[in-house]
Amino acid sequence: MPSAPKLLDPTAIMRSLRPWHRLGRLGLALALCAFAHARAMLPLQTERTSRFDLEVTGTLVGAPDGARRYVRYADLCALPTTKLLLSDEFIQGRQEVTVVFLSDFWKAMPVPPDADCLLATCQDEYASVFRREFIAAYRPFFVLKINGAGPDQWSGHGPASDPGPYAITVSTPLVPAAGGFLSLEHKKPWGVVTVEFARYAEKFHDAYAGRWASLSTRAAAGRELWVNACASCHPGPGRTFSGTKSHQAFAILTAIARGDPALFRRYVRQPTSVSADAKMEEHGYFTDDQLQAIIAFITAEQR
Ligand code: HEC
Repeated sequence: MPSAPKLLDPTAIMRSLRPWHRLGRLGLALALCAFAHARAMLPLQTERTSRFDLEVTGTLVGAPDGARRYVRYADLCALPTTKLLLSDEFIQGRQEVTVVFLSDFWKAMPVPPDADCLLATCQDEYASVFRREFIAAYRPFFVLKINGAGPDQWSGHGPASDPGPYAITVSTPLVPAAGGFLSLEHKKPWGVVTVEFARYAEKFHDAYAGRWASLSTRAAAGRELWVNACASCHPGPGRTFSGTKSHQAFAILTAIARGDPALFRRYVRQPTSVSADAKMEEHGYFTDDQLQAIIAFITAEQR
């Protein structure tokens, strides 16, 4: 009687893998390696088990749109990590941080090919927009350890104010070109709890539709400035993606931008110069032209 075929007989597998069988055992090993590598995905949990789990949502292959999944801190640490030296970032002076680049995180997630932005939302409702081009050019990263300590040790110990559970930031010594990015401070969110993979055209649809479909050149430039700064805290037109930390309706900003552009510019540069107890942070670096562009976007100036 012929012996029953072994389930994992390598020669049988090799015969079934037509392109590889002529290469012999080495070819098989390479084929299996390539397969394993392509599938080196982060394990996604359906339940949160710790406050240090990172919530992931948006468009994910194999999950219904908008489903929430959780990545464990230990699994993030198992991705390729890099040690970098930063100055005055989380604590005063030099600090060694262990990081995972957003690009490596992205590769380890089941993200469909047409997703082109990662939206990070923080526990205080602040949000940061990371488009794929930004990620490729400026190499933002998750901080997993500060001077060897994980986020469970960040409060009270080193960092004056706890940047956990997750902080994303960019290093200008590592990528000098990032220093030329206007609102770089809004690509450094602390307290990130959720990341969403999305299609920019969907999340910002309403900033390109209706009256915003035929913006003047200056207003279109203002839209870029808005997305990279104001959208961190302020809702925009319609259902445009944003953080909601400001708790100010878009209609209020529109009214000020239209009614008193000079006051608007003064407010954005230095809010306390208009209202002593304003909590909004200063954006003193904007030029008059840039603030006029933001006003043109908010008021949907037509071409
Ligand atoms: C870090 C969060 C944050 C960012 C980023 C931010 N704002 Fe604000 N903004 C606030 C908060 C909070 C208020 C509410 C008033 C206050 O306490 O300052 C506010 C209020 C305002 C107001 C006044 C509204 C009123 O009722 O008087 C204007 C105008 C404004 N923001 C414009 C902007 C523009 C334009 C940008 C982008 C360049 C921007 N803000 C970015 C948080 C933010």
